[in-house]
Amino acid sequence: MKEINLTTKITVYTIEECNETEKNLIEAAKKATQHAYVPYSKFSVGAAVLLENGEIISGNNQENAAYPSGLCAERTTVFFVNANYPDQKILTIAIAAFYKGKFTKEVITPCGACRQVLLEVENRFNMPMKILMYSEEEIYCVKSVKDILPLSFGDSMLR
Ligand code: THU
Repeated sequence: MKEINLTTKITVYTIEECNETEKNLIEAAKKATQHAYVPYSKFSVGAAVLLENGEIISGNNQENAAYPSGLCAERTTVFFVNANYPDQKILTIAIAAFYKGKFTKEVITPCGACRQVLLEVENRFNMPMKILMYSEEEIYCVKSVKDILPLSFGDSMLR
């Protein structure tokens, strides 16, 4: 018998500790929450990605009366980028959530399905994607989606 211990390093920042690029990206994610289509959950999520060319693209969650047909902010944004900027690497993604009139006190973390989609982008471009998870009090930062998706399933298993 043996044990495997997995560790994750999360850097926790205050907004003041973020650099200008990170602040801009977080601001774009916060702004994007305001255009989310969330008539069912009323939980507005915004995502903003920084592309290699310096552009910032944002998106938000889009819900549907047939609940599973809706899509999270992260996937809405990443799929838009993949569709319109197929050659652009995503350097960083910032996520923010707005609920009951304010930004959440707890950091917003991507759901499992979104982590899998972010992993695909990392693998496709062979480059880690920094993830900034926002809350009113602090920001969690990881250097790669692999940090929050241990024992992941990726394309290498299909070879
Ligand atoms: N949601 C996101 O957009 N991103 C996340 O990381 C978590 C959840 C959305 C899905 C749904 O529209 C609402 O938040 C409540 O689950």
